[in-house]
Amino acid sequence: MGEAKLRAVGVAGVACVLALALLSPAFAAPPTPLAPSAMPAASAGSVTGNTGPSLQVLHWWTSAGERKAVGVLINKLAEQNIQWRDFAIPGGAGIGAGKVLKSMVLAGHAPEVTQLNGVIFGEWADLGLLLELDTVATQGNWQKLLFPTAWSLLNNHGHVVAAPLGIHRINNLYYNIAVFNRLGLRPPRSWDEFEQVAAKLKQAGVTPLAQSSESWQVATLFETLVLAESGPAYYRELFVDLSPRAFADARLLHALKRLRNLKQVMQLPVRERAWTEIAHQLADGEAGMFIMGDWAKGDFNAWGLSADQQFGCAAVPGTADYHLYSIDTLAMFADDYSHQPAQEVLAQIAMSPAVQSDYNKFKGAIPVWRSPDTSKMDSCSLNSWRTFSKGAAFQAPSLVHRMATDETTKDAIVAELRRFFVDDQISEAEVQRKLASIARALSRTGKVE
Ligand code: GAL
Repeated sequence: MGEAKLRAVGVAGVACVLALALLSPAFAAPPTPLAPSAMPAASAGSVTGNTGPSLQVLHWWTSAGERKAVGVLINKLAEQNIQWRDFAIPGGAGIGAGKVLKSMVLAGHAPEVTQLNGVIFGEWADLGLLLELDTVATQGNWQKLLFPTAWSLLNNHGHVVAAPLGIHRINNLYYNIAVFNRLGLRPPRSWDEFEQVAAKLKQAGVTPLAQSSESWQVATLFETLVLAESGPAYYRELFVDLSPRAFADARLLHALKRLRNLKQVMQLPVRERAWTEIAHQLADGEAGMFIMGDWAKGDFNAWGLSADQQFGCAAVPGTADYHLYSIDTLAMFADDYSHQPAQEVLAQIAMSPAVQSDYNKFKGAIPVWRSPDTSKMDSCSLNSWRTFSKGAAFQAPSLVHRMATDETTKDAIVAELRRFFVDDQISEAEVQRKLASIARALSRTGKVE
């Protein structure tokens, strides 16, 4: 299991989280699953006439690119005469899906399969809820094929508890090529260059940086700013180790100042919009730049736009050598083991060369294989793959996308960042103190160290 797993909450912590989920307003009105018409086109054919086993799969992949990627899985599963029963909960970063999943598990109705990223594996696996995929992993030679970071993420106390799909890079700065060409701009490599480019975009009446005030999107931007401060080592001290010293560090204050200053190059007031809407602002040339995970590239592609033609992808200034990652995975709930054969087929399919290449092409991610077929990758994916291949010292686990710490700590930090972002009355020093006390409190209680 990855280093972050060491911070996983114990059984009592999980029960508490589950109870909170039930009591929370979001539970009272859980997001509605997608209507069948909004499901991936591919699913319709695979559902009709299927008499074999079926698997209910909970996930939050509802955007155009994400649905195409899901379509690949549905079709591959259908080829094995297994039906994918789609249970999609809209909401970027799985905010709604996470709550629905917890309530389902608590009610004894866990789905057979779920997209369940990161550190939370350990929490469910420790409760004995997840199917161990050791046989599939051994037969498929996963340990040898996978990037070590991906392999360690899937492991809980020596057992494989999820099947990996792809690796997203988060520290991307997308730019609109037509707008940049028209204004004679080049993608910024440093924050000084960023400011110059932003000033020219503003002068030309273009929003320099597209951004939503949705909490996970604010925090996604912020984690790239932390990485830009001084790379993965400090990032891990903060978000993986929750080190009090790191929270008192001037670099955190500096990243908070940068977050606040960046508001000046956004469209004010910064509205709470889905990431797909914000991505459209970049695609339409309403905004010149957009910092987001490469699932956005999956959508640009689905809208008919290509890398290096309509949009370019650079790294967030100061992070070109690094890879802020989120690894997508499918975990299987064991229940009474009646679905085990079908669940194991899905795990095998996830790791197959065809799915690794096609699914990730649509998703905007890179394969979890350390030596994948790179011949059809665009420049953004090649760059992502090369950077991730440099190894753990160049990789930073995303806080927001559940790679760094447990759900409770992540949610508390994300909420605080959003409050600071929307309310200019809160000073940088004040939020720094609050973040430090969250880290202190949550690293002391409810966790198995
Ligand atoms: C991430 C997830 C991606 C993508 C994104 C936007 O957490 O890893 O697969 O779905 O959220 O919702």
